[in-house]
Amino acid sequence: MEIVIQPTYARLAEVAAEIIRDALLKKPNLVLGLATGSTPIGVYEALVEMHKTDGLDFSGVTTFNLDEYVGIPSDHPYSYHTFMETHLFSLINIPPENRHIPQSTAVGHVGFCERYEAAIVAAGGIDIQVLGIGKDGHIGFNEPSSSLGSRTRIKTLARSTLEANAPHFGGTIDAVPKMAITMGVGTIMEANQCLLLASGESKAAAIANAVEGPITAEVPASVLQMHPQTVVVIDEAAASQLKRIDYYKEVYANKLELLDQEI
Ligand code: GLP
Repeated sequence: MEIVIQPTYARLAEVAAEIIRDALLKKPNLVLGLATGSTPIGVYEALVEMHKTDGLDFSGVTTFNLDEYVGIPSDHPYSYHTFMETHLFSLINIPPENRHIPQSTAVGHVGFCERYEAAIVAAGGIDIQVLGIGKDGHIGFNEPSSSLGSRTRIKTLARSTLEANAPHFGGTIDAVPKMAITMGVGTIMEANQCLLLASGESKAAAIANAVEGPITAEVPASVLQMHPQTVVVIDEAAASQLKRIDYYKEVYANKLELLDQEI
């Protein structure tokens, strides 16, 4: 795992967007796994800026979103379909037919989940999977106790997740959809690279458990320790409970120095 600690959320977002930009410049038909939640918003803003200012071209890109609530229409103001439209898709040039988001209905979900997995394989697999993290260590909507080998399926959301998302649904957890379709942990692990983002003190314990704790289904993000190419981009507050913080900073500083020498 590469741990990149940035002083602020704004820098975290820029560094993550630069990783995606550099990959896109090398591979114009990049396959991106995308996440929702407040954490990636700054990354999407930076990518939109690169598109507008530098002409960064997304016309060959294919995307697969991690998850979607079940039981609300796709055009609901807080559906992940709406989120992606608002924060990214309406602002850059990814062809609509290249964008994939799990459906928001349970009808025919078994077949849908199989087709979603098959579409990822048909696209050549995910090159970079963007991930946020829940306070309980979940990735996508893979709540604690999710099988570390799980595939795209319906999951019931944990109470802590319902509480975290309640502000989006009028402040009451009764209004939050109880289930979601999510890529599985095993699906996520097949991405070539994972880009785990976290900001703020409320994520510090989850990051410490995911990066330095035991690998366990109790903290689904901890399985990323087994992934050969995971980059964890976090701000100081989210890094505050890590034991080896000085070492991670030294490793990253040395990497930047080596990159400078190469230029
Ligand atoms: C939800 C999403 C996750 C996201 C998490 C954290 O549970 N399904 O993909 O990582 O929220 O969201 P935030 O970035 O808003 O803290």
